[in-house]
Amino acid sequence: MHIAVVNGPNLNLLGVREPGRYGTTTLGEIEASVRARARELKVDISWLQSNHEGELIEAVQALRGRADGALINAAAFTHTSLALRDAVLAAEMPFVEVHLTNIWSREEERRKSLLADLAVGVVAGFGPQSYLLGLDGLVGWLRGAAQAPKSVQV
Ligand code: DQA
Repeated sequence: MHIAVVNGPNLNLLGVREPGRYGTTTLGEIEASVRARARELKVDISWLQSNHEGELIEAVQALRGRADGALINAAAFTHTSLALRDAVLAAEMPFVEVHLTNIWSREEERRKSLLADLAVGVVAGFGPQSYLLGLDGLVGWLRGAAQAPKSVQV
């Protein structure tokens, strides 16, 4: 099983960027912990970070038919990029949206995600742990261990 991890702008600066908000763990350290968990789960990981919207769009397009699923932290593009949303739709690939911070507890303009309604699920607010929770959730979902909750008949 191949899981792609897609990271958007400014996440390359984790560790030094607003440490009071995002913590001191670097993106490289997050990658190492995700890869370690992926080994336990026996899944392959590809890892990408870009500060460029077009590059992220091309990377997501290229995942079509190649990745079984993705973890996506589109960073600020989460809130702004209709083009990235379209690329995710075109890729037809199940994904979990992840954020270090709880975007719904932040400024108004961050409380909207252009990806969330397309996602299998969203994990936000657990710092670097969001990636691991997202990976566990996605792999479980892909393996059929987790089914979407059935609506309750009343
Ligand atoms: C973020 C939240 C975004 O609003 C912000 O632009 C980021 C990081 C997060 O992981 O908490 O760059 O995606």
